Amino acid sequence: MHVPTDGAQDAGSVPPLRGWPGVDAAAPGAVRRQAFVLGVASGKGGTGKSFVVSNLAVLLAGAGVRVTVVDCDFGLGSAHLLLGVNPERTLQHYLAGKAGLDEVCVATPHGPRLLPGGSGVSALASLDEAQVLRVLNALARLAAECDVLLLDAPAGIAPQSLLLLLGCDLVTVVTNPEIAAMTDAYALVKCLWMRGGRCPMGVVLNRVASAEQGAESFARLAEVSRRFVGCPLHSLGHVPEDPGVRQRRLGQPPAVVGQPASEVACAIQGIRDRLETLSGGLRTRPLTGASDPRERWLHWLRQEPPGEGATTA
Ligand SMILES: Nc1ncnc2c1ncn2[C@@H]1O[C@H](COP(=O)(O)OP(=O)(O)OP(=O)(O)O)[C@@H](O)[C@H]1O
Ligand SMILES: [Mg+2]
Repeated sequence: MHVPTDGAQDAGSVPPLRGWPGVDAAAPGAVRRQAFVLGVASGKGGTGKSFVVSNLAVLLAGAGVRVTVVDCDFGLGSAHLLLGVNPERTLQHYLAGKAGLDEVCVATPHGPRLLPGGSGVSALASLDEAQVLRVLNALARLAAECDVLLLDAPAGIAPQSLLLLLGCDLVTVVTNPEIAAMTDAYALVKCLWMRGGRCPMGVVLNRVASAEQGAESFARLAEVSRRFVGCPLHSLGHVPEDPGVRQRRLGQPPAVVGQPASEVACAIQGIRDRLETLSGGLRTRPLTGASDPRERWLHWLRQEPPGEGATTA
């Protein structure tokens, strides 16, 4: 894949976010640090990625972590609804050169910053290479200005989605226990692994009927993944089916704030705790070649995807 060379110019044109503690205060000569980049993905659509992302982001922000959520659903983003804002500008404006990154990013009521996805515009999969590079530059800039960059990835195994996930420090796959979602979760894990992705992969079983169903479903997915592709999966826990999640009205806060003692909120806390352990800490790390997300994404952008066989289950 051809890589355009004007990335530095693009990154230079993006002003830093202002007014966020720590962003403007870096002392000259201080070691530059980089956010932990956490991708939340699924094979099948509608498994609960945005639900997990919004609750996790609010929970971390409540503990003083500077979290930026990126709604990577460039076609029909919805993270803004769950985070309680109605932004005027989206990634679409940034991609069209009509707004800078700091004009598009918005603060949300419960703490996280948000780079809102598009609405009714071209999906990530249909962006050209220059636009993809512009997105990667934006993500790298955001990663330099927060503690945790949380990517709400599009469902599926489109090359551009895989590219975003391959550059993450950790990927969380959200699935439901039903067979179609599990099969597609396996396909996603397999694609990432066959492309050479070796970051830790965690699994959240969402909308389970019981703890047993969650544990059994995870065990099945982990066994298939281990046996057929050799990819280890880590259990991040399960979230029960809760009609209250679907009935939540616009403007109501995420469960971790609105009903902090609910089963769903406790499940998200458990996921946060396991993520802390698996990641070695959801916080910034010193910027080195290997921890520079922009370099990682450019590396994966330059890699040719393997042949057809890698994507068939
Ligand atoms: N634990 C849960 N209990 C009940 N309903 C849930 C639960 N988690 C998510 N849902 C519901 O499932 C639907 C899909 O959730 P969500 O939008 O978070 O999925 P998604 O994976 O982000 O979808 P997409 O692939 O379209 O981006 C929503 O209506 C949401 O309210
Ligand atoms: Mg979503």
